[in-house]
Formats: sequence, C-alpha cells, structure tokens
Amino acid sequence: QKLEMELESIEKGGYEHFMLKEIFEQPRSILDSMRGRMVAESDHLMMAGIREFENKFANASRIIIVACGTSWHAGLVAEYLIEDLARIPVEVEYASEFRYRNPIISERDIVIAISQSGETADTLAALELAKSKGATIFGICNVVGSSIARATDAGAYTHAGPEIGVASTKAFTAQVTVLTLIAMIIGSKRGTLETTKLRELMVELETIPAKVEEALKLNEQIIGISEQYKDATNFLYLGRGYNFPVALEGALKLKEISYIHAEGYPAAEMKHGPIALIDEQMPVVVIATKDSSYEKIVSNVQEVKARKGKVIAVVTEGDTTIPAMADHVIEIPETSEHLMPLLSVIPLQLLSYHIAVMRGCNVDQPRNLAKSVTVE
Ligand code: AGP
Repeated sequence: QKLEMELESIEKGGYEHFMLKEIFEQPRSILDSMRGRMVAESDHLMMAGIREFENKFANASRIIIVACGTSWHAGLVAEYLIEDLARIPVEVEYASEFRYRNPIISERDIVIAISQSGETADTLAALELAKSKGATIFGICNVVGSSIARATDAGAYTHAGPEIGVASTKAFTAQVTVLTLIAMIIGSKRGTLETTKLRELMVELETIPAKVEEALKLNEQIIGISEQYKDATNFLYLGRGYNFPVALEGALKLKEISYIHAEGYPAAEMKHGPIALIDEQMPVVVIATKDSSYEKIVSNVQEVKARKGKVIAVVTEGDTTIPAMADHVIEIPETSEHLMPLLSVIPLQLLSYHIAVMRGCNVDQPRNLAKSVTVE
C-alpha cells in the first residue's frame, strides 16, 4: 500500500493531482503534437498519416467529424478551422447520435474520428458505420494501438503522452493542434490558404507553447477567483466564434469535476433563453479575446452586467474595454483567432481544477465517470 502510494506520487511528478500535472504539461505536449510535422523556418508542413490521403482530403465533398465529450469540442474547433482555411463543409456529430440516425454518407466523404483513449464505444461504432458506407476514415487518437486507431484507414496520433486524470486537458490541446495542422495542410493543397497567410500561421503556431507557459502563470490569480466562486451553484460560460467550443469545454470541465451545474453557450444565444437565469448570484465566464467577434461580445458583457451577473472575463493582454466592465479579468497573450482556443482554454481548466479541489472533490476520479467509456 505504502509503496503504491509512493509510486503514485512519483508519477504525479510533485503535483497534487494528475490533472494539475497534465495542465502544466501542455507547453510540452503541444510541442510534441507538432514535432516533426511543422518547422516554420524551413516551410516544412507535413503529416505522415495524411500524405497518402492528401488528394482525397483536398477533393472531399464533406468532412464529418465524430466524437464524444471533450473530443467533440475539439471537433467543433476543427469545423471553424477547416471551413475557414480549407473551404470544405464540415459537420460535427455526437458519435452516439450519428450511429443511430441512418446518416447520409458517400464515398467522397471523409470521416474524422477523434478520441483520446481510442476506445470510446460510440465513436468506434460511428466510424464502423461510416466505413461500411464507403467513407474514408481518419483517426486522431492519443493512445497508440487503440481500437479506434486500428479501425481507421489512416490517422495521426496526438502524442500528448498518457492522460490519467478523467478530465481531459492536454489531450484536448493536442487534438486541436493536430487538427490545425490538418486544416493548414488541406488549405494549402486546395489553394484556399494563401502562402503568406499559411506562413504567418505556422510562425504563430510555433509560439503557442511559450504563450501557454505564460497563461499558466495565471494560476495564482485563478486560485483567488476560485475562492470567491467555489460555492456557486450554477455557472454560465459564453464565447463566440473560435471561443464558442471553448465555452462548452470550460463548462464541461467544471461540471465533471466540481459537480457544479454549468452551461456553455454561444454568447449571442443568451438572449434566446439563458439570460433569464442571470442575477447577482450567477457567475458568467466570458471568453472575450480580441478577434473578429470582439465588438459583439462587448455588448454581450454589457447585457450580463445590466442584469447584475458576475463577469469573469478572459481577455487579450492590454484590453481596456472589457476590464472596465468585468468583475474579474484574466489576461492571456495575443494570438491569431485561429489558434486562440489553445490559450483561452488554459485558465478555464485551472478554474475548474481549483474550484473542485476547494470543494473537496476527487479531481482525478470524479464520481460516476470513467476515463474511457467502452460501453454505450
Ligand atoms: C472529458 O473531460 C471527459 N472525461 C469526456 O467527455 C471524454 O472527452 C469523452 O468520454 C471522450 O473520450 P475519448 O476522447 O477517449 O473518446
């Protein structure tokens, strides 16, 4: 027993929980997920798994992404990336719905299955169904040799290293990194992504690990915010554009490990219902970084403040407009909006972690949850 505990503490590398260790590993795991695949200086952008299928990708009539939970959120980020950079229509499907819906699938479709564990039953069944209809199946998995990795025609590993905490953190950022590379590869092949824009994105992507390192320095500040909101019974998360999936992910992280009810919404949907929930008791996390929807989200923050909601805003360093309205301001480094989810998710992971610890929850093994869901 004692030996087992000692072993576990060595595995945690000095961190109190695996989840915290995995959050702090992200500068490294993001770098590992692009290693060998991209070097901006020499214009190198290549993914072995995709090479043979590059033409297929470039000529695909549609890309369908199937996944569950956090991996589904990574898929949503990919929808924005692939549609914007490669101009191919993308549909993101909950694997569990897709498999039972008699979906329309053709041989010109590419199905991307995203799964950290590579063992999620619904995702595996969804890809088997698509395969039987003749689609090309591409897998993005973290666990090497897993069932999903073996069932696909081609794929790319995320190389994030083992993820032990039930709440997915570093696997998400690695998935998003790999999907970004895929969007850039297809976009450049199709000519929808200009060379100068591609180069800019490559250079910027290389700066992300260092910027994640910067974002992790927010830890102390986030402990302070967590203290103030740990007893809240509800949380709302709002984001627009690339930050909308991040809002969903922030809410999922909080509910699964702290058991606080949380919902993520595209900020503009608030006025179609959730705004009725806002009063002085309601913490609202708004991801409002400087991007093409910034002006719009400023108005959304005003709407929340007009109803006395407590705004915890994640903003780009140097912003002055939102800080003048928000109750708490979390500043993250500037980057291209295409890459922002890799940074904006970091403070939300930390917030959920600290709130859960303060509430005495079992962070690494939350109740009712398993690391891989191998039953439907
Ligand atoms: C994430 O924090 C969750 N524990 C869960 O939603 C998870 O992402 C989902 O079960 C999918 O798992 P997979 O990536 O291993 O397929």
